[in-house]
Amino acid sequence: MLKRSRAVQSNQTGPHQDVSRRVARALAHPLQKPVAAHTQAAFDHAATWLGERNAPLILDSGCGVGLSTRRLAAAFPSHAVIGVDRSEDRLGRDHGELPDNALLVRADLVDFWRLAARAGWSPERHYLLYPNPYPKAAHLNRRWHGHPVFPTLLALGGRLELRSNWQIYLEEFAEAVVQATGKQPVVEAHHPNGDYLTPFEAKYDHSGQALWRLTVNLERV
Ligand SMILES: C[S@@+](CC[C@H](N)C(=O)[O-])C[C@H]1O[C@@H](n2cnc3c(N)ncnc32)[C@H](O)[C@@H]1O
Repeated sequence: MLKRSRAVQSNQTGPHQDVSRRVARALAHPLQKPVAAHTQAAFDHAATWLGERNAPLILDSGCGVGLSTRRLAAAFPSHAVIGVDRSEDRLGRDHGELPDNALLVRADLVDFWRLAARAGWSPERHYLLYPNPYPKAAHLNRRWHGHPVFPTLLALGGRLELRSNWQIYLEEFAEAVVQATGKQPVVEAHHPNGDYLTPFEAKYDHSGQALWRLTVNLERV
């Protein structure tokens, strides 16, 4: 039986007033935190795998159980698709053999993105599918656009696609992208019509929740 889920509950009724302050701070103070050894090792493994393929890269950041990574690999057979998630439990669930052009990596994105940026990675497409919303206003700094790693995420470039069941998350993210890059993302309703890229997408849609999608073409910086 499918689990139903409740719509995001938040004490915010619109975009957080501190988004621009958080973005300005992230732009002024690049993250200095050292990279964890396990993420360095995971990144090195991914870099070797990617180096063995002469193919454009697709990143699936926060891939959960990796269903989207598999589906993207099938949809883009001449691309190399890397799914990254920090949850060993989610990545460990058996969803069948991985296609040859897909890799699942256990790593913290805060470190993984910085290593990818330093190594000159330039994903053609970058998916952020249903990131944790952290809906309490006090937790703005945990949302990707409120986090000090945000400029690094954008600097990777490519066609970025973010999906969420919380419209405010996308509105804030769009505001933050405009501030950091001058590019205006497109934010629109997303209607999967039964063609689900991820388990969370399926769960939210089956629960009757509205889904949203943000897309923007970013320059590699
Ligand atoms: C709400 S789930 C969505 C998973 C999947 N994209 C989906 O739609 O089914 C968010 C995922 O992001 C992962 N995540 C959150 N913060 C992360 C981080 N800093 N590094 C890596 N993964 C992270 C979590 O482990 C979780 O699997």
